[in-house]
Amino acid sequence: MPDTTDLLSGPLSSSAFLRAARGEPVPHTPVWFMRQAGRSLPEYRSVREGVSMLDSCMRPDLVTEITLQPVRRYGVDAAIFYSDIVLPLKAIGVDLDIVPGVGPVVASPVRTLEDVARIPDLTPEHVPFITEAVQLLVAELGATPLIGFAGAPFTVASYLVEGGPSKDHATTKALMFGAPDVWRALLGKIASISAAYLDVQVAAGASAVQLFDSWAGALTRADYQDHVLPFSRQVLSAIGERGVPRIHFGVGTGEILDLMGEAGAEVVGVDWRVPLAEGVRRVGGRSVQGNLDPSLVFAPTEVMLERADQVLEAGRAAPGHIFNLGHGVIPSTDPDQLKRLTDHVHERTAPA
Ligand code: CP3
Repeated sequence: MPDTTDLLSGPLSSSAFLRAARGEPVPHTPVWFMRQAGRSLPEYRSVREGVSMLDSCMRPDLVTEITLQPVRRYGVDAAIFYSDIVLPLKAIGVDLDIVPGVGPVVASPVRTLEDVARIPDLTPEHVPFITEAVQLLVAELGATPLIGFAGAPFTVASYLVEGGPSKDHATTKALMFGAPDVWRALLGKIASISAAYLDVQVAAGASAVQLFDSWAGALTRADYQDHVLPFSRQVLSAIGERGVPRIHFGVGTGEILDLMGEAGAEVVGVDWRVPLAEGVRRVGGRSVQGNLDPSLVFAPTEVMLERADQVLEAGRAAPGHIFNLGHGVIPSTDPDQLKRLTDHVHERTAPA
């Protein structure tokens, strides 16, 4: 089983991605893309034909193939495990589905203490297919690190409480404001599930993790600090014992970036709304990931690359910078643009 020693001396020791995450000198600025595997790739659409999203996540052969597709095509500096933030809930028996074009839909929303008590804890026995897929992947990836991931308590809670995707998260916030005991029980439960799910991935060989709190930007600073941050910190400190770098990401989180850093990750993801130079100041002393506007791939190539240069320049002020988009790849993205972007980041930042 890989441990920190392997990360420091094995094939991954020179990984630009891992080095940037730890704030160490890099051979070039590392780059990968959130949702790099997915609908923007014709090879993904062909593998997924006739297989549902959740079924594909439970098949190690498909998970391995889909995770490797963008690594082959783009030569990115990290692979992200193909799965979903609701997969661990599905694995422990929560009745849910991922509806194409909609997102996760939960059959019986969770709103009472009894509902929370019915959710079991996650053990490795619930997810043998995850262990197998990670092991297959790490063997195939060689010197390219694999990022494991989980959903953060607030973002996962929003799907469980609302019963599906939501713009305003009103029912979720109503529970947070009106039923603090249910809220704490629910977020504590999700925190232990997410921590256990990350642990399975790292135990099997993932060499970094990302905690996705995609919807945390919907909260005020005070509410984030009082009702959410402690549970995200619980996940990050539990996995921190494994010694792998941790990335903490959300969308629209400009006002809480410093607090997201305080939750304990080595790297804070910055979405495109905050200029990266400002993001670097807000998370002071930590590495950053981001933050090109995902829509820039639809601009003329030279405009996209010019804006990428601005991001690279701003990233120099941080102890480490991992180049990424400010959120996931938009499904209609032309993969050739992402290839040009990857090559450009490498060429621009490698010593001549
Ligand atoms: O390449 C990667 O980044 C790894 C795979 C990945 C997926 N989901 C695959 C996926 C990751 C990291 C996620 C995380 C995830 N899932 C998040 C956090 C990241 C973010 O985008 O903020 C969230 C909020 C979800 C919930 C979810 N799952 C949504 C909102 C959707 C999109 C619904 C739609 O169809 O537009 C999904 C489905 C999903 N997860 C797809 C993929 C490739 C598309 C489904 C398909 O191809 O059929």
